[in-house]
Amino acid sequence: MDFKTQIKNDKLPRHLAIIMDGNGRWAKQQGLLRVVGHESGTKSVREVVEACAEIGIKHLTLYAFSTENWKRPKLEVQTLMKLLVKSLKKEIATLQDNNIKLAAIGNLQDLPKKAHTELLEVIEKTKSNGQMTLTLALSYGSREEIVSVVKQLTDKVKNNIISVESIDESIINKHLYTQNLPDVDLLIRTSGEHRISNFLLWQIAYAELYFTNILWPDFTKNDLYEALINYQNRERRFGKTSEQIS
Ligand code: FPP
Repeated sequence: MDFKTQIKNDKLPRHLAIIMDGNGRWAKQQGLLRVVGHESGTKSVREVVEACAEIGIKHLTLYAFSTENWKRPKLEVQTLMKLLVKSLKKEIATLQDNNIKLAAIGNLQDLPKKAHTELLEVIEKTKSNGQMTLTLALSYGSREEIVSVVKQLTDKVKNNIISVESIDESIINKHLYTQNLPDVDLLIRTSGEHRISNFLLWQIAYAELYFTNILWPDFTKNDLYEALINYQNRERRFGKTSEQIS
C-alpha cells in the first residue's frame, strides 16, 4: 500500500527523531558481519533524509552513535566512524541540492580527528540551507547532556550571571545541545525494541512514540510514511482533556 498520498501536509511533526536500531541483527540474519549491517543502514539513512525533505519535515534528528557505543568492539567502532566520513563526503552534494543544513549534537570532540574535521566542514558548508535541519547525534548521551546543563547553570549562578530564581524550562532548553531545535513531536525506533536508550530524554517529554519491528536496513520511505500517518491519527492532548483539544 502506498502511504504517501494519505499524509496531511498541515499535520507533519515539526521535529522527527529516529533511533536507527537493528543493523547488527539484520546482518546476522543473512550470515553477514555486523559492519555490513551498518553499511546497509546508510542506505536507509539516505532514503529517510530524502523523504523527510521531500514532504516538508523541518527537523530530523538521527541517533547515529551513543556515548555507550564506544564500548563496542574496536573494529565495529572504527567501521562506524569510517562510514560517517564516507557518507559525509558522498552526501554533501545531496544535502546542498536539497537545501538541507547539517548539524550535530553530542561529545563531538571525542570523535576521531578525521570524522570530526569532515563533520565540521559539512556543517559549515551547509549552514545557510533552509529546507530542513538534519541533526546527527554522535557520541551523544542524554544524561550527559543534562549534567552539562546543570554544570553550565551552576557556573553562571556562581558567577552572578543568572539567579537561581530565573532558572526555568526555557533556560534549560537554551543550554541543551538541541537549543536550536523545537521539542520532538515524533520518535521512531526500529527493530522491535521498546526503549529510549538515553536519547533526548528532556526533549521527548510530549513526543509520540512509534515502535516498529522492521530492522533499520529494511526501513523504507513507505515505512516512514506509515509511521507519519499513524502519528497524524493520534490525539495529542499535552495533559489536557479530549474535549479541551477539540
Ligand atoms: C544500531 O543498530 C545502529 C547503530 C549503533 C548505528 C547506526 C548507524 C548507521 C545507520 C550508519 C551510519 C550513520 C550515518 C549517519 C552515516 P545495532 O548495531 O545496535 O543493531 P542490533 O541491535 O541489531 O545489534
